[in-house]
Amino acid sequence: MGKLDTKKSAKPAARSAKKASPRASNAKSILRDANQFLMPTYKRQPIVFTHGRGCYVYDSRGKKYLDFLGGIAVNALGHGHPRIVKVIRREAARAIHLSNLFHNSYQGPLARKLAQWSGLDRVFFSNSGAEAIEGALKLARLYGRTPADAAGSPARKYRILALENSFHGRTFGAVSVTATEKYRLPFAPLVPGVEFVRFNDVADLESRFDDTVCAILFETIQGEGGIYPVSEEFWDRARALATKNSALLIADEIQCGLGRTGRYFAYQKFSSKPDVVVVAKPLAAGLPLGAILTSESVAQSVSPGLHGTTFGGGPLACATALEFLNVIEDEKLLENIRARGAELREGLCALAAKFPFIREIRGEGLMIGIEISSDGAPLVQQAMLKGLLINCTHDFTLRLLPPFLVTRAQVRQFLRMLEKLFVTTPQKAAAREPAKSAPPSHAALAAAR
Ligand SMILES: Cc1ncc(COP(=O)(O)O)c(C=O)c1O
Repeated sequence: MGKLDTKKSAKPAARSAKKASPRASNAKSILRDANQFLMPTYKRQPIVFTHGRGCYVYDSRGKKYLDFLGGIAVNALGHGHPRIVKVIRREAARAIHLSNLFHNSYQGPLARKLAQWSGLDRVFFSNSGAEAIEGALKLARLYGRTPADAAGSPARKYRILALENSFHGRTFGAVSVTATEKYRLPFAPLVPGVEFVRFNDVADLESRFDDTVCAILFETIQGEGGIYPVSEEFWDRARALATKNSALLIADEIQCGLGRTGRYFAYQKFSSKPDVVVVAKPLAAGLPLGAILTSESVAQSVSPGLHGTTFGGGPLACATALEFLNVIEDEKLLENIRARGAELREGLCALAAKFPFIREIRGEGLMIGIEISSDGAPLVQQAMLKGLLINCTHDFTLRLLPPFLVTRAQVRQFLRMLEKLFVTTPQKAAAREPAKSAPPSHAALAAAR
C-alpha cells in the first residue's frame, strides 16, 4: 500500500499548513469568538483542528487523530493530497470564478467523466448536496408536467415519494423529503406533495404508487439514518413502478456515491439505472460542489432560465473534482476501498463476537455502521480523547467513513483503538430491541414515545 500512502508526498502542504496554524493560546480566543458569534446550529467539540495529512488530522495543540470520519464522507482523499493541492494552487492563480454565462475549461470535461462513470447523459453542477436535491425535485416536477396542466397551477402528476428514515439535507425542499421529524416539523408547512414509504417495504411502495407520482427519491444506502442499504427487491420494484408510471427514480448518492462502496456508484450493484443521481460530498475533494446527473430525455425538460446557480460549476471546483476522479482511477482506489472495507468488516465481526453490545455491522466498502445497544455518544467522546475520529448517528450507530486511501496498517490501528475503547468505556444497559437490518418505522417510533 506504499503507493497509496501520501505520507511522503503530502509533506510540503502539511508543512505550510502548520506554519499558519493557530497556537494553543490562540485556540482559546477562536473558541471564545465561535461561542459568542456563531449561530448555535451545531453541538461542536471544543477543539480547533488546524491541518491534516493523509488519514490524520491535527489540533491546535499538535495532537494527532486518526480520521475515520473523513469530514462526514467528504475527505475521500484524506488531507493534503499532493495532486489535489497542486491543482488548487494552479487554478486559484488562474480563475477561481468566472460565470455560468460562459464556458470554463473544466465543467464540460467533468460532466463527460461523470456521464461515463454513471451511464447517464447530462449534468448540472450545484454547490452542495441539498442544492442538488432541490434541483432534482424541480426536475421531477418539470418532467411530470404535461401541456394539459394549466400554467401556474399544480400539475396533476406532482406527488413525490421518499422513504422513512431518510436524510436529504436542510433546505426547504430537501427537508421536506427528509423523514426525521425533529429536522422537519419545526419548519412546517413544508413543500406539499411528499409521502414517506416504509423502508424496503415493497407492499407499501406499491400501494402508494400511481400515475400522480412524479418521482421516487431515496438514498441507495441511507447514511444519516444509520447505514441501511435499500434491498435489490425494493430497487427493482421502484424502478419498474417508476417506468410504468412515467415517474423519475432519483438516487441520492451524496454520501454513498463516487467510490465509497467500491463501485463508482452504489446503485451499480443493481441491474438497472436510476433516471437521476445526485452527488456532492467528496466530489471536489473538500471544495463545495454537487451535481445532478440525468438521462438525455429528462434533461430535455429543462430550458434556459428554469434553473441556475451563481457559484455551481466554477473552474476551481471543477478542475479539482476532475483531478479527484482521475486520482480514483490512477491510484486504483476502488480496489483499495473493497480490500480495506473487507478487512474492516472482518475485524469488526471479530469484535462483535467479543462484545455482546455490538448488535450489527452494516454497510459496504468504506461506509460502515456499527449498531450498538447503548448510547454511542460517550464512545465517540472517548474515541476523540484517545485520538480517533468517528461519529454516531441516530444515537446507536457508530458511523465509519474513512478516506478511500486508508492503508491496511491504518485499518489495523483503528481496530486496535476501537477494541481498547470498547474495553475501557463502560456500556450502559441495552437501550432498545436488537437491530433487524431495517430502521424502526414511523409507526414503531410513534408507539415507543
Ligand atoms: C444522503 C445525503 N443527502 C443529502 C445531504 C445534504 O448534503 P449537504 O450537506 O451538502 O447539503 C447529505 C448530507 O449529509 C446526505 O448525507
